[in-house]
This record gives sequence, structure tokens and C-alpha cells, in this order.
Amino acid sequence: MDEIKFYYGENIPLELHKVRVVQKLHLVPIERRLAALEEGGYNTFRLSTNDVFLDMLTDSGTNAMSDNQLAAMMQADDAYAGSQSFARLQKAVEDVLGKKYYLPVHQGRAAENILSNAYIKKGSLIPMNYHFTTTMAHITQYGGKIAELLYDEGYVIESTHPFKGNMNIDKLEEIIKIHGAKNIPFIRMEASTNLIGGQPFSIQNLRDVRTVADKYKIRLVLDASLLGENAYLVHLREEEFKETSLGDIIKIMTDLSDIVYFSARKLSSSRGGGICTNDLDIYREMEALVPLFEGYLTYGGISVREIESMAVGLYETLDETMIRQSPDFIAYLVDSLLNHNVPMVTPAGVLGAHVNAMKVCEHIPQNQYPAGALAAALFLISGVRGMERGTVSNQRDEYGNETLADMELVRLAVPRRVFTLSQIKYVADRMAWLYENRKLIGGLRFVYEPPVLRFFMGGLEPVSDWPQKLIAKFKEDFGESL
Ligand code: F0G
Repeated sequence: MDEIKFYYGENIPLELHKVRVVQKLHLVPIERRLAALEEGGYNTFRLSTNDVFLDMLTDSGTNAMSDNQLAAMMQADDAYAGSQSFARLQKAVEDVLGKKYYLPVHQGRAAENILSNAYIKKGSLIPMNYHFTTTMAHITQYGGKIAELLYDEGYVIESTHPFKGNMNIDKLEEIIKIHGAKNIPFIRMEASTNLIGGQPFSIQNLRDVRTVADKYKIRLVLDASLLGENAYLVHLREEEFKETSLGDIIKIMTDLSDIVYFSARKLSSSRGGGICTNDLDIYREMEALVPLFEGYLTYGGISVREIESMAVGLYETLDETMIRQSPDFIAYLVDSLLNHNVPMVTPAGVLGAHVNAMKVCEHIPQNQYPAGALAAALFLISGVRGMERGTVSNQRDEYGNETLADMELVRLAVPRRVFTLSQIKYVADRMAWLYENRKLIGGLRFVYEPPVLRFFMGGLEPVSDWPQKLIAKFKEDFGESL
């Protein structure tokens, strides 16, 4: 991949796109931000973008779309069945992901619902490198359980390991022997393992998983929502693939998998999702579920315009200048924060920069949600909306007990080609200030806790008047600045 050097030695990522459509942002006063937090139950999901300055909640459906994606939307072919738009998407899936049979679904979790419906029953066990929230919710909903099989390095927050998303092959064999292959309908590998900080797996590891899957005749399912970024990090970090193109790396990974599913909200910077395979029997096992849950087989709950933008977006994942922009900006943000001693997940991963809230807020007990508190505090002092990825995002166990998360992270998502470098510098500045004043942050407690995926709509409140104290210190240091 081409490198662009600066003559005076500055090492900053350079945007290889220009901005042609803009949206005005609002940086509202800190008093309004406090009111917004109170109205939104100290849950950043429940904030209105009216009150948010930089929206770093997620990259899901928020990546910038290209001119070609938008143009394609205008030539969409409206038809319930047999739409030409669908044929274009099918071809893109085959060209980019190398799979002939494609089932459209309205987003990633809908694919998880269909996969779980088709394959999971009570007593099923799904080994995976690590869970994602919606994946686990669907698997358990259908009576299954999950087994997370990262190597120990995957749980080390500050590390130099290039592939913390790798699956532990010994543990995989052990678990198959204990539970029996017949109770394991599939093994799931998640590209750029989201909840441990967007950490990739290596192709060698995927090959090793494939060998075990073949030995025990178990299907291998790839969650490809963040596949392009995983491919980019393979290119950077895995010796064997230094000269291999992104497209070829993607194909190698999908060829090793029996079923590939994805959220197109991430993968192709559009909306929608899908499940694809080269095995007609597998396709048939899920085919009837798409009209049942999603819509007819040539749209699957996705609008034809989005189908067109998804097809173009899939081809664009082969463009390194597009794929590398977000990981390169994330690496820049992580480095800036490390320079201010803010504890971060390292190495820098994809999707976002991940702050280690367990360490920033070591004075807050885990059952008072340090990551939730840090996300709320950051919004209060900056208008930057991150996402809690810790105990609030965990679900209670089957007996209703709180399950403390392995990691308490605040994710600062960097969607593709959305933010400028000065905005990234603002985030680093405010987060570094907050780190210096971390002792002022206090815990949270639930006042409203929904039974499923509680982090989306749950409501919390501060355990003391810490937000007011934080505001007082902010005013002392920043005066009348927003
Ligand atoms: N798998 C992974 C790895 C994901 O990151 C997501 C979504 C899904 C599946 C579900 O896809 O949202 O289209 O239904 N991740 C988003 C996030 C929500 O913010 O990280 P979906």
C-alpha cells in the first residue's frame, strides 16, 4: 500500500477524499449537555443528535457514503420480486465475497436470528472467538449457549499482540470433545472482534480453525461485518500477506468459511445485511426463513435504493484508500491519548479508539458501571458521544445475577470518512483533560432496566452529585469555552 511522507517528518494520516456534502453540527453549552444526560438516563444511546457534537457512538449506518453509492441509489429498480437491483447486489456479493448464494436481510442481527432459528436448539453450544451483544442474545433466545475461546492475550488490554481476536485452537478441540460435535451446529469467527476493541484474527488462525472444523465436520460461520478492516490489519501485520491485495485477503477469509454473514451497515457503508454461502443445502436450510422474517428473497427487508448502495459499497471495500482511513485515524487518536497517559486498548484496532475505563475509573466499583460513567462524563465535558462497552452492555445470567464484563471500555467510534483531523484532536484534548480530572467522576445505578439488551434503552442516574463537581472544574479550567 502506498505511503505518503511529510517532508518535515510529521506523521499524520492524510485524507484521500474531499468533502462534498456537509452537515452542520451543534456544540451546545455544558448546562444543556447535563440536562440532555438527565433526560436520557445517563445512557448515550438515548441522547438526541441535537445535543451531540461529535457522534462517536458507532460506525453502524454512519459511515460516509460515496458519490457513486448515492448515484447508484437513483437508478434502483422497484420490484417486489426479481428486481434488477437485487441481481446487481448478488453479483457484487459473488465478486467480493466469493459466494454464489445470497440471502438478503434487513441488518446484521436479522442474519443472526435466521442462523439461530435454522441451527440452534436447546443444548446447542456455539464456540466463538468472542461474543457480540446481538449474536449472544439471539443464540440464547433459541436455547443455545456460547463458549468464548480467545487466547489469554486477547484479554490483555494493553498489549502488543497483533491478533488478539485469534481463537485458541486447543480450547476449541477440548470443548468439542467435552460437548460432542453433534451439539455444535457451527463455530463462529468474528472479524475484527468488536467488544474487545476491534481486534483482528490472522488468516493462519482461521486456517487452523478450519482444520478443526473439518476434522469434526462442523460448519464454520464468519461474521464479516468488519471484514474489510480485518483484511487491512492482516495486510499490515501478517508477514505472508504483505504483498496481497485487500480483495484477495478478503476472498481467502471467505473461502475458508462455509457461511458468511454481515451487517451491511458496517461492511458496505450502507444499510441492510446478508447471509451467503456456496453450499446449496445450507442455502435451502435458511431460504424459507427470509420471507417469514424479512421479506421476499429479492429484497429481504432492504429498500431497493439501499440494495444499490450496498452493491457499490461492497466493491468499494476493495479500495485501500477507503478502508484504511478509519483505522489510520483511530491509530492517530490512540497514539495522541497514550501520549497523555490515557489507558487505551492496544494495539489500536478498528471501528474506534477504546478507552480502558476500568483503569481510568479504578475508584468506581464495577457494579457502578465505570465505562457507563466515563461515557457520560465525556459527553458532559465535550459533547462527544461514545458508547459504553462494559457491564451495562452485558446481559444478566439465567438466574438474574449481574455478570461483570471482562473489560470496561468506552468506544469512540470513527466511522469511515466522517471526521476531520481537527475534530479528532478535539476529542484527544477533552479526553486527556478528563483523564487528569478522573477522580471527579462517580458511579451510576440503574433506575430502569429492560430485560433484553438493556444497554439500548436502560435508564441510570449518578450515585452522587459528581456531574455538578465535574462541571465546576470544567468552568474553572475552560472559562466560558463551550
Ligand atoms: N456483528 C458484529 C460484529 C457487529 O459489530 C454488529 C453490530 C452486528 C453483528 C449486528 O449488526 O447492527 O446491523 O444488526 N454492531 C453495531 C455496533 C451495532 O455499534 O458495533 P446490526
